[in-house]
Amino acid sequence: MVKLYSKKANPNMRRPIVKEEIVDYLRTQQKPNTGCLADLEQFAQQENIPIIQPEVAAYFRFYLQMTAPQKILEIGTAIGYSALLMAANVPEAKITSIERHAEMFALAQKNVAAYDLKEQITLIKGDAAEVLPVLEEEFDFVFMDSAKSKYIELLPAVFDRLEVGGAVIIDDIFQGGDTLKPIEEIARGQRAIHRGLQRLLAAVLRHPDLTVSLLPLSDGLLLIRKNTAKICLPSGLD
Ligand SMILES: C[S@@+](CC[C@H](N)C(=O)[O-])C[C@H]1O[C@@H](n2cnc3c(N)ncnc32)[C@H](O)[C@@H]1O
Repeated sequence: MVKLYSKKANPNMRRPIVKEEIVDYLRTQQKPNTGCLADLEQFAQQENIPIIQPEVAAYFRFYLQMTAPQKILEIGTAIGYSALLMAANVPEAKITSIERHAEMFALAQKNVAAYDLKEQITLIKGDAAEVLPVLEEEFDFVFMDSAKSKYIELLPAVFDRLEVGGAVIIDDIFQGGDTLKPIEEIARGQRAIHRGLQRLLAAVLRHPDLTVSLLPLSDGLLLIRKNTAKICLPSGLD
């Protein structure tokens, strides 16, 4: 049994933000995974490990095949499912994925060793807050799927490593709708996530040097294109 998620996982990630019957259609009628991705998806479900939902996987297949990024950075590997999905959909890309939790990192190492046949994926163990500042290469696509309260803190370092014209996709933006509510209505244990996501949205949605879009897929995707070399984010939005 996988210890990290055996008892707890943020339930908001599984609260759909569109009608249940539409979510059900998106999850059951689009092309399912096959092979190792289907096996990993099943393992994650059985062990309560939060990986991207099927409708996000379908969107990623489309987005990645259309844009074909060559240098991908992922923050939050878990068992390596989304990294392997990205590798399968952009066979020429190199993917760097950061994971801080030892148990998840060990599972990702095992899965990447078994299924990353073209050796596209490099795993880095550590906290992204410490790893990002020492990365030397630039990326043309970043997928952020780590602790939700800290996205806003990681974003300046992500922009430093992102090429102009590159994109960032950030998962789990709406927290089942809680992100839009006043903080008094949010359970105390969820307030750091709430504050972090509100700061993130306030910092990017109308930023003059970013092109931004929100997609109501799964628990919400935030899509950001970096349009200029230097991106100044407002500080102290609390
Ligand atoms: C939602 S899971 C990632 C799922 C994966 N992207 C997928 O869809 O297959 C989030 C992961 O991010 C990791 N994480 C959270 N904060 C992190 C940080 N600051 N640096 C590195 N990893 C982090 C957690 O340990 C967890 O394994």
